[in-house]
Parts: sequence; structure tokens; C-alpha cells
Amino acid sequence: MWWEKKGHLEINDKNHLSIAGLDACTLAKEYGTPLYVYNKQRIIDNFTAIKNAFQKHTDNFRIHYAMKANSNLEILKILYRKGANIDAVSPYEAKIAMDAGYPQKKIMFTGTSVSNNDLKMLVDDNIFINIDSLSQIRRLRKIAGNNLNVSLRWNPGMGAGHHSHTITAGKYVKFGIPESNLAHAVELIKESGLNLVGLHQHIGSGWLADDVLVFLKTVDRTIDTAAKVQDKIGHNLEFIDFGGGPGIPYRAEDKEFPLDAYAEGICRKVNSSPLKNSKIAIEPGRYIVGDTGILLLGINTVEDKNIPLIGVNGGFNTLARPSFYGSYHEMIVCNHTASENKKEFMVAGNLCESGDVFSENRETLRKLPIPHEGDILAILNAGAYGYSMTSTYNSRPKPKELLIDNKSAKIIRKETW
Ligand code: LLP
Repeated sequence: MWWEKKGHLEINDKNHLSIAGLDACTLAKEYGTPLYVYNKQRIIDNFTAIKNAFQKHTDNFRIHYAMKANSNLEILKILYRKGANIDAVSPYEAKIAMDAGYPQKKIMFTGTSVSNNDLKMLVDDNIFINIDSLSQIRRLRKIAGNNLNVSLRWNPGMGAGHHSHTITAGKYVKFGIPESNLAHAVELIKESGLNLVGLHQHIGSGWLADDVLVFLKTVDRTIDTAAKVQDKIGHNLEFIDFGGGPGIPYRAEDKEFPLDAYAEGICRKVNSSPLKNSKIAIEPGRYIVGDTGILLLGINTVEDKNIPLIGVNGGFNTLARPSFYGSYHEMIVCNHTASENKKEFMVAGNLCESGDVFSENRETLRKLPIPHEGDILAILNAGAYGYSMTSTYNSRPKPKELLIDNKSAKIIRKETW
């Protein structure tokens, strides 16, 4: 199958799905479902792949893990030990990162519609702030006083993403400072006695090979703009941050993300520009954890209604992406991985809403081996924006999380309300 990866997702000799060497059916039985299962080694491998891709071209870079993708404490700790920094989007994420052991200097906050209370919490905690509005500059000055180092998130005018909701640059977008306000923002920072030390962009989330060219165009724009900003402020910027966004294949036909072209493109452009002495920063989330997490659900109902239906014991409170974005997630009946006896089903959750389906939408059925009630359904690529977007809608608890390390499993978050 296209999703098989040695040491990560395999079909074992019982024809069951195996995750990091452990039988998914056994895990589901032992720990109960719904259950998020993560493979520690895969997290390390993905992080290392990015690090190696940049290291071929420069040592002057840092990776801020976008913890909004998955903020489990154990996962944060694994990445900390590998040298990650953090991209936090709320003061609470910054606090969780500190709890996981990250020193303040490794955490950068990039927020939107930021309140005075948010700013105060961040300043009190000594967290670096990446500013995204003129309003924030004015208010930060009053809260922080002089001499605070800050950076600016600008909007390079073009974006990319797997869905319109995840495109974060361009016209109808709330994020960042548009080019038309940038000179004013730089001036305001100067007048406010804040020190501008970086320029940041994040054009969107979940783009693949075809969008790398769009991304590299925005890299050019950001470098040109940073060079102008440097001229204006009269000193070099300490860093230039290109945000996150690298996608992962969710479907058989999706191409692998071209990591080498991406890293080489960024490094070549920066190294041959007036920004060559600035540190390169990136903020990947999905690429690091996306394929490391599998959601295991119990099958409650197999029944022909107006359409053939599989009913599972989780819903968009457990994994929001299919209902929220119409996202495709591969599904596997864990104990029938090799069955040829397939049929098209609506795969639906246990919430009281018709849109609560795990196939991309209500009309798109999924061809699966015919399961029995009590079987286990695995939903792949659920490591990023899976658990972190869960809710307790319908007053159901949030699922457990399990980490597999060297073929031994441990619960890293209990079921919570
Ligand atoms: N940096 C900033 C400022 C961001 O806003 C984001 C994601 C990232 C980095 C990381 O992006 P990544 O490398 O993970 O693509 N819930 C959506 C994704 C929303 C992403 C929000 N911002 C989904 O499930 O696809």
C-alpha cells in the first residue's frame, strides 16, 4: 500500500496494521478507543530530515516547531532534546513550552488579534513577540516600556495552502502587516523605542511541490523588503523567518514534499542577499508531526441505511479536519488490511450533526474492506492538527494519547473532559 513505511506503518503477519512495530488491534484493545497513537522515532526522523536539509547549506538557521500542530508535553520534550525552538500562538502555548523545558529565548510568539492581557503575560514571561499589527506596536510600548526586541510579521501579498482557510497571506487575510503599512510600522517601532530585529512571513499551511515556486517568490519578496527595512533602521536584522507550511502526502497521488529544493532555495536566496548575516528561521508543524500520529477508532455500527454506513466512536470533536476543511485522511480497517472484499461506505462519527463524517464530505463514500462491528478503524496522518483541534462537543471526553518508543507504549495524555 502507498502508506506503508518501514518501521512506522506496516502490515504484520496477521494482516493487521502495525504501528512502530506494535499491532494496532492489540493497542486498541489494551488502551481503548478513541486513541491517538504516535511513533517517537518518526517524529525524530522528520525533524532530523529538515535539519539535515538546511545544514547542507548553512549553520546559521533555527527550526521553530509550530506547537499548534500538536502540543503534547512529551512530543515537545522529544523535539527540545533534538534542538527545536518554538513557534507559539498564544501566551498559554508559551507556558506549555516552558513547562516542557524550553527556555524563554527559544520561544517566539506570533499572534493575531492580540489583547493587552496577552501582551502583558508574554512580557512578564519574557517571551519574544513577533508583531502583526500597528495596534499591537502602540499597545506594546505602553505595556513593555523601551528597549524590547521585537520582529514584524508582514504580508508578502501572495499565499498558499491546502484550503482557503489555511492561506495566510494575500488580500482577504487578517494576518501580518501589508506592504502599504510597513513603512509606517517600522517608523512606529522606532518612535516607540522598541528594537526591530527580525522580519517574518507565513504564507499558509499544507502546500506541496507545486506551491514551492509560489513560496520561493515570497521568499524573494521578504528578502527584498528586509533589505529595505535594514536600510531604514540602519542596522542588520538578526533574523529572517519564512514561517511554516510544508505539506505531507495525505493521498496516494500526493507527491512527497521537496525538502531539498525548499531548503536549498531559501538558503541560496538569503546567502546571496544583504541578509546573508541574518539567521534563517522556519516554523514547520505539520511536516514534523503529521504522519507520526494515527487515530484509532472503534466501529460501533455497520449497516445499510439509505447508504452503506460505518459508524465509529469518535467525531469531529476527535478529528476536526475532514468536517472543517473536507480534508482527506486515509482509513484502514486494522484487522482486514489485505481484504479484497470491499464496499463503499459513508464513515460517520457519533455526534449529532449530519456533517460529522470522516470521508471528505457526506456525498463522498470511501471504499473499504467490509468490517464487523467491534473492529478497529485507523485514520492516518492525524498527528498534526488532530488532537490539538479536539473539543468536548456533545459533552464527550477528549481521547487518550499514546507514544510508542522502541516497541514499548506509554500513555502520554489521559482521557480528559
Ligand atoms: N507559523 C505560523 C505563524 C502559523 O500560523 C502556522 C500554522 C505555522 C507556522 C505552521 O504551519 P504548518 O507547518 O503546520 O503548516 N488547522 C489547519 C492548519 C492551520 C495552520 C495554522 N497556522 C489544518 O488542519 O490543516
